[in-house]
Order: sequence, then structure tokens, then C-alpha cells
Amino acid sequence: MFRIALPARLRVATWSQASSCRTPKMTVRRRPRWSELQPLLRPRNVPLRPTERRLAAAASISDLRLLARRRAPRAVFDYTDGAAGEEISLRRSRQAYARVEFQPQVLQDVSVVDTSTMILGRPAALPLVFAPTGFTRMMHTDGEPAVARVAARIGIPYALSTMGTTSIERLAAAAPDGRRWFQLYLWRDRAASHDFVVRARESGYEAMVLTVDTPVPGARLRDVRNGLTIPPSLSARTLAEGVLHPAWWFDLLTTEPLEFASLTRFEGTVADLVGKMFDPAATIADVAWLRSVWDGPLVVKGIQTVADARAVVDAGADAVIVSNHGGRQLDRAPTPLEVLPSVVDAVGDRAEVYVDGGILSGSDVVAAVACGARAALVGRAYLYGLMAGGERGVQRAADILRGEIAGTLALLGVSRVPDLRRDHVRLRTP
Ligand SMILES: Cc1cc2nc3c(=O)[nH]c(=O)nc-3n(C[C@H](O)[C@H](O)[C@H](O)COP(=O)(O)O)c2cc1C
Repeated sequence: MFRIALPARLRVATWSQASSCRTPKMTVRRRPRWSELQPLLRPRNVPLRPTERRLAAAASISDLRLLARRRAPRAVFDYTDGAAGEEISLRRSRQAYARVEFQPQVLQDVSVVDTSTMILGRPAALPLVFAPTGFTRMMHTDGEPAVARVAARIGIPYALSTMGTTSIERLAAAAPDGRRWFQLYLWRDRAASHDFVVRARESGYEAMVLTVDTPVPGARLRDVRNGLTIPPSLSARTLAEGVLHPAWWFDLLTTEPLEFASLTRFEGTVADLVGKMFDPAATIADVAWLRSVWDGPLVVKGIQTVADARAVVDAGADAVIVSNHGGRQLDRAPTPLEVLPSVVDAVGDRAEVYVDGGILSGSDVVAAVACGARAALVGRAYLYGLMAGGERGVQRAADILRGEIAGTLALLGVSRVPDLRRDHVRLRTP
């Protein structure tokens, strides 16, 4: 038997609250028993691989963003993270979600929370869609197939971009059971646009998403400052960056070359590409044209006013996405969450209304649905995951969002997504 003899200065004196004369009382210590310690010693299941370990420690999309910033070269991170001009549109989108104040209803039975909803007439496990993002293999060579596989696994749609780095057919082969949408930009060469429509139909894509907010390239100042070209060029600066991000460069140089799947060859900046290929003369007649050549659901993305929502629904759209392209096109564009309710009021009885821009958490998704959206789209949220750890990172982003959606619903006192109402949310005045 041994005794722990504490030096006098380590003895802890506490004041007896009951005693009016406030005599100091010594804390009586004893040796802990093994039987008491043993249950506290629960070894955590720490993943051995460093990427897995970092992803497991990420508790939010913001944590994944920090990991992404460390892993990807600066120009690549900035291409994803950045927006147009002074990035006012993007900041305002985020601030709008920060202004959301939930109005919870307590004492509701939320023992079972169902996060599913209907999107384009089919069930989706969450009111969430992975947005189309160009050049996804630049963020991580797992690229679009990884995003599509995660979307299929968690039961939500994913839209492949015209500017994707995986072809329509290869993506279909990578996620044959997933809900695949194709996002179309109208090329100056209409025959080429029509060719995409035909290939998407033949490869079993469910919906066509026409993006209409990109007549000319947005002013992406971070890309200009970083000298971003596509594919990234090996300059002295990028080589120096390579030393800082060896895993990214090793991955890039040892996998299939990075190129746009829908273009045979292009070298230059994103702005050069958009300026050369996209048709600034597109009009509402082109929505009607697309309606006539695509017989599946037609979604129009980039709607920012009630008048435009009405016009595209009149031209045959089945759904609209209230979006300013994540702030990457017109800076100082309308803020999607703020425009959303009036668009829902105007066309919600004839079309589904979705929203995107600045969504970084499951509670943002819940707020968007409460404001009238059938579903929310996220771009950067899954791209941060992709940059942080490839497919496993996208899965981590999806798991985080799914957990937050379910948790927010429960705390709001809502057990089913269709029960979310506008009065569950109040927008605080800034
Ligand atoms: C890196 C990146 C590339 C994008 N590429 C496209 C694209 O090719 N086509 C398109 O319609 N939208 C594109 N977008 C916009 C997204 O579809 C979506 O509107 C936007 O990301 C939503 O904002 P969030 O990133 O804050 O979620 C892109 C967005 C990002 C971040």
C-alpha cells in the first residue's frame, strides 16, 4: 500500500459556504481505483491514414474549407472559393443565411425525422442537389465521378456541367444508378448544344438544366491575379507552389490529363473560353427551342427576378433555380434567399423552385426550404470536401450536411420536410 503525500502548497482549500465564520475546508483526496479508471479508458477509433484522420476531425463545411485551402494550390482553391468583382454578391448571400432566425416549436414528437422530399416528381433522400461545377477534376482528380457516386449513395441528384472534366457517357458509367442531370450552356454553335442534348438522352440523364446567367464571363479577379489558366501551366510560380502542395501535383501528373470533356482541346483562361464558346445572343426563344428538343424535365438556372421566372416557366420550364451562380457572374446581383419567396409566390404553383448560393450548412438548407424552395443546391460545400480528400471528402461533406439537416429539423420541431413553413424562419434586419 502506498499513500500520496501532497505537498502543503498543493492542498486545495475551499470555503465552506454553510459556515458563517468561513473556515477553510481541505479537499480530501484518495487514490483512484483501477475499476473506476478502466471505463474511462475508451480508445478512440482513430483512422490510420492521415487524410481519413483529418476528414474525420472536420466537424463542419468550414473545417473542410480550411483543409481544402491547405491541400490545393492557391490558384485552384481561389478558383473554387472566389467570386466575381468585389465578391459582394457572394458575401450578401452568406449574410442572408446569417440573418435567419429560426422559430422553433417545442414539444413536438420528433423521435423520427424524415429528411426526404420529392424533386421533379421522384423521391430524394434530402432536399439537396449537388450543383454543376466546371473543371471539377482540377480540385481533385477523383472529379465528377466521385461527386456523382456520393450523390447516388446518399440519394440526391447531381448535375454534370457542360464545362465538366468527365464526359456525359463516362459519368453515366461511373454512377449508373444515380439521378444524373445535365447542365447545358448554349454554345454559339447550336448544333454542338443539340449534340449534348442527344448524348444526355442516350445516356439516361433525367433532367436538362439550362444555365442562363452567363452571356459573358464574370470578372473573377482572383483568377486574374493568380494567372490561372486551364489546364494549369507549369510556370516558375506553379512549380514553387508544387513544393507546397506535392500531393496535388503528384496526383495531377500521374492520372489522366486534365481537360474539358466537351471540348477537344482548349488552352487559356476560363474567361477566354466563356467568351469564345458561349452565346451572348441567347434569348427566351432558346428556352422554347430546348423545350422542343428535350422531352424530360427542364430546369432553368440563374433566375434572379420574378419577371424572368415567369418568362421561363411560360416558355416551358418545369423548375427554376433562383441563383446568381454563387456570386461568380454579376457582382451586386439580387440575393437568392431574399428573392426566393416572391419567385415561389409567382410561379410555385406551375414549377418547382430551387435556390443556391452561399449555402454552407444543413441549417442553411432547412432555412431555404422553409422560405419556399423545394430543394437547395450546393457547389462549394462539396468542392471543399473534394479538395480536402477526393471522394471521401465529398462523402464527409454530404454526411455533415445530412446530419445538420436532420438535427435542425428536430430542433425546429419538424419531423417531415414538407411541414417546413415560412413562419419557421424570420430574417433579422441587418
Ligand atoms: C468552381 C465552380 C464552378 C462552377 N461551374 C459552373 C458551371 O459550369 N455551370 C453552372 O451552371 N454553374 C456553375 N457554378 C455555379 C454552381 O452551379 C452554383 O450555382 C454555385 O456554386 C452555388 O453557390 P455555392 O458554391 O455557394 O453553393 C460553379 C460554381 C463553382 C464554385
